[in-house]
Amino acid sequence: MRILHVSSECAPWAKTGGLGDVVGALPDALCRAKPGIEAATVMPYYRAAKTALAKQGLAPQDTGIVADVSLGAATARVRFLRLDRRGRAPMLFAANDAAFDREGLYGHDDDALRFMLLCKSVVGVAKALMGGAPDVLHAHDWHAALIPGLVATNARALLPRTRTVLTLHNLAYQGVCSNELFPISGLPWDVFHLDAFEWYDQINLLKGGIALADAVTTVSPTYAREIKTPEFGSNLDGVLRRHEVYGLLNGIDTQEWDPATDPHLASHYDVDNLDAKRAVRADLLRLCEWPELPDVPLFGIVSRMTAQKGLDLVASLVSELHGLPARLVVLGTGSPKLEEAFQLAARHYTWNVRTDIAFDGPLSHKIIAGCDALLVPSRFEPCGLTQMYAMRCGTVPIVHATGGLADTVHDPGDAALARGEGTGFAFKHPTVVGLRWAMGRAAKMYRKHPAGWRAIQQAGMRRDWSWTRSAGDYLKLYRALCR
Ligand code: ADP
Ligand code: GLC
Repeated sequence: MRILHVSSECAPWAKTGGLGDVVGALPDALCRAKPGIEAATVMPYYRAAKTALAKQGLAPQDTGIVADVSLGAATARVRFLRLDRRGRAPMLFAANDAAFDREGLYGHDDDALRFMLLCKSVVGVAKALMGGAPDVLHAHDWHAALIPGLVATNARALLPRTRTVLTLHNLAYQGVCSNELFPISGLPWDVFHLDAFEWYDQINLLKGGIALADAVTTVSPTYAREIKTPEFGSNLDGVLRRHEVYGLLNGIDTQEWDPATDPHLASHYDVDNLDAKRAVRADLLRLCEWPELPDVPLFGIVSRMTAQKGLDLVASLVSELHGLPARLVVLGTGSPKLEEAFQLAARHYTWNVRTDIAFDGPLSHKIIAGCDALLVPSRFEPCGLTQMYAMRCGTVPIVHATGGLADTVHDPGDAALARGEGTGFAFKHPTVVGLRWAMGRAAKMYRKHPAGWRAIQQAGMRRDWSWTRSAGDYLKLYRALCR
């Protein structure tokens, strides 16, 4: 079975969030799951990807495959490069420097056009890319959501047996653009209607993808249910209620996130040797220029700073950290307002708040493993990966019970947590009151009941967060579609 993933992001070549992590790991897990499964990934040949490849001394090979894509009056040529690594799914890069060799991944006025170019080029040469038509074209998020539309309509004759899957990693981003782009999209006008790509006289790429994909999935069972409600549906709940949405929980790369071997950590530890986590904590505290204070929990945040993540709730509570007591280390970038709020907090509370405004992979490992607890108070969270990284590292998550956070962090109450029957602290309402309550419970358990705290750490570390189970679920879905 041939499965071709198409995504805007794929770690370690270019990522802004969890989409890159997932697409960087799932195809490998599929190949490992069963002999005879061939999975590959296509992503744009961004400037960031070129830099990341060069840093590793890697040069993808020209495949000689090109797609000449008509964009109205103009034609754009996309060349495909290929990178093979031992034991890994092949990586394909779609190269068109005018579209992709730019600063940053997104935020350009012509983003919709750039990703239309990606989708049209991939559909045009999908057969050549995999040495035969893919059985499944698996599109991720709005950037690739034109693909199910193309395969269901104008490209059907080219790929008669190919089935399409669209995975929704985040419904907040839908690829809404002017209807003037419709003639360029490669779609026939008969899918420019209310039940497909049309959106208040504009184009909504994600909505069309949902309507025309053979299967729609999202990255956790709870989010799959939530998005069918007006509260979480980002105005697409009505469309989603008419479709089956499969909620397949993400896994994590348990090799990259392994405190026993992580090269970014000052010391190594595992579930039976948790004491050595202290040295990783001490290393992080040295960076903050803070004393160790073993009784005061160290909270961490590693996050995009957007409204989704609920970080404004944390910002409202920084003045209360001293009283808990607790300290806070923040790593993130995003909304200028949130960046400023945390920078201001760090200037004001130099002894218990530290803020790094950056996107820094190595530091994210030091924080996630070095902290005692990780705060993830997201208002909505399709899956969330950092809470799983935290649990893998013996760091206790404090989360709003929504989406994938609700599916991965089990909070049976303080007494049961202390018996090792749960994996973290969860609150039901994304409010300052909810977060304060959960942070208070965690700080108290940490200080007053170290054995209980350790039980929570160990419970999280013993859970299997690997991709094995999810890869099996995806394969089942692919098989059902291709029957
Ligand atoms: P989302 O995709 O919504 O941002 P996830 O939890 O699924 O949320 O994934 C976020 C990913 O991005 C994780 O790998 C996390 O470690 C990483 N990340 C987020 N912000 C930063 C940052 N400032 N520096 C380094 N890594 C970050
Ligand atoms: C999105 C979501 C996040 C999810 C990630 C990977 O960026 O916001 O919750 O973990 O995709 O699926």
